[in-house]
Amino acid sequence: MTTTIYILNGPNLNLLGQRQPEIYGHETLADVERRCAEVAAEKGFSVRLFQSNHEGTIVDQIHEARQAACGIVINPAAYTHTSVAILDALNTFEGPVIECHISNVHKRESFRHHSYVSLRADGVLAGFGIEGYELAVRRICSLCAGG
Ligand code: DQA
Repeated sequence: MTTTIYILNGPNLNLLGQRQPEIYGHETLADVERRCAEVAAEKGFSVRLFQSNHEGTIVDQIHEARQAACGIVINPAAYTHTSVAILDALNTFEGPVIECHISNVHKRESFRHHSYVSLRADGVLAGFGIEGYELAVRRICSLCAGG
């Protein structure tokens, strides 16, 4: 069994650290990757982080994960609230999926309150800042290890 965890990120998250720092903070996606790699390594797992501004590319990454990953952490960003295609792709993945949002989407505009991805996710984190990714990786490690 593979011990790789995919960490997938949707549109505008390439600008993490520069984009609305009052909401998303000052740390970058490279910081997310470094922190998650450390957490995963403690448990004997590794991570691969991807980001795309394109819905179809994220669908392709989920398809790749079917063979290459034991679990997925996904922050679909704005596609959370719109993408049946990402939901359908996640439904083809057999391992655990954790949905992670940096901000507390429930405290924000009502259009952010609905998530298609939550229909598939085994757990959802929102409002923990980028620490949420670490918590999500920790949980994926436990689930992939059978607990
Ligand atoms: C987000 C919340 C989404 O509503 C938003 O479109 C994002 C980021 C978050 O991490 O808080 O781009 O997923």
